[in-house]
Amino acid sequence: MEKVEVSKVVKEVQTPFYLYSRSQITDNFFKFSQAVSSLDNLICYSIKANGNLSVIKAIAELGGGADVVSLGEYKRAMKAGIDSSKIVFSGVGKQDFEISESLKCGLLQFNVESISELEMINKISSNLGKIAPIAFRVNPDIDAGTHEGISTGKADNKFGIPLNDALKIYQYANSLNNIEIVGIDVHIGSQISDLRSFEKTFSHLSKLLERLKKEKIVIKHIDVGGGLGIKYSDTDSVPDIIEYGRIIERALGDLGCKIIFEPGRYIVGNAGLLVTKVIYKKSGEKKDFVILDCAMNDFFRPALYGANHRIIPLKKKFGKILVDIVGPVCETTDTFLKDHKFDDIAEGDFCAFMDVGAYGAVLSSEYNSRPLIPEVMVSRSEFHVVRKRPSFEDMIERESMPEW
Ligand SMILES: Cc1ncc(COP(=O)(O)O)c(C=O)c1O
Repeated sequence: MEKVEVSKVVKEVQTPFYLYSRSQITDNFFKFSQAVSSLDNLICYSIKANGNLSVIKAIAELGGGADVVSLGEYKRAMKAGIDSSKIVFSGVGKQDFEISESLKCGLLQFNVESISELEMINKISSNLGKIAPIAFRVNPDIDAGTHEGISTGKADNKFGIPLNDALKIYQYANSLNNIEIVGIDVHIGSQISDLRSFEKTFSHLSKLLERLKKEKIVIKHIDVGGGLGIKYSDTDSVPDIIEYGRIIERALGDLGCKIIFEPGRYIVGNAGLLVTKVIYKKSGEKKDFVILDCAMNDFFRPALYGANHRIIPLKKKFGKILVDIVGPVCETTDTFLKDHKFDDIAEGDFCAFMDVGAYGAVLSSEYNSRPLIPEVMVSRSEFHVVRKRPSFEDMIERESMPEW
């Protein structure tokens, strides 16, 4: 990775661990910003994809903003140096303490998802003597053609306000004293490979904007969300980023608005490896297994979405074995690849999961009382542990045993 041999990191950091490339993150950010450079734009990196402070800091240094969905993510963005004027606060269930603290410290806009949330924001901003900048996230009822678990723009998904009710809801928001309407927002899903669903969505947005204009409701920001897919395997087709930029330019480019983007996976997905060790190999009656030292609690995407990630040995191997690659957790879903023609790896050998920079470490847990694994970042010929592994004591000491 960059100028660092992964096998050198393995000598200093105990596996399993995540390993990120700072320059890959930078390259991805540049590629994205190049593709949308003809637009007045702001790239608000979606922190949910990878919330490590060093990752966010790399993006802050490139002038990026942040898309956050909790006060925790808001605090991460601020700590990593993102300017509060570049933070959009998304999410379907913002709570009063999240709204008030982010209003006090500042933000670009709340992406509001219901009338109840709007009224809560109005009440809190009135109590604080503030005016809250808001956009509504609209649900365009569009099937993004992605995995059901990461599709967010269909009418039966919990997200956004129905497109057909939008005008009415904007008019209501316009009547509230402590609300300033600044924008419109949409996010139809993640790992999207077909640009046509974006095209349809943006055409709905531009029509809604026309109707709002007639009602003298001024929209300054169009937040088009994230969702661009990346290549996980040779057979994945991925959207062309330049074409994505052109589609937005055609649909929304001459409306006089700032276009906000919320990419997550595109910025960090291919910038991360998960480095792991083979603990055992075993032969079952019907199958052979390779048991790794990482498990579903460390990397949840395969168990959660059936995601397949390439796994490659750190040292070239000759010969192949047909195996299931699994983790040590006591669940059958703790399986990373099934009936896989794997390199003939030996016990004690190291290997790496590819493309785990997005929705990797952030989805991990301590299931089976396995402490969270470290995150390491590489920059040119250096590497640093950017989140250390807690000790077993650290993990256990958070709990107490009251004398009842
Ligand atoms: C509101 C919102 N914006 C942005 C993203 C980032 O999506 P992606 O990582 O696919 O770019 C998500 C992820 O689901 C999201 O929910």
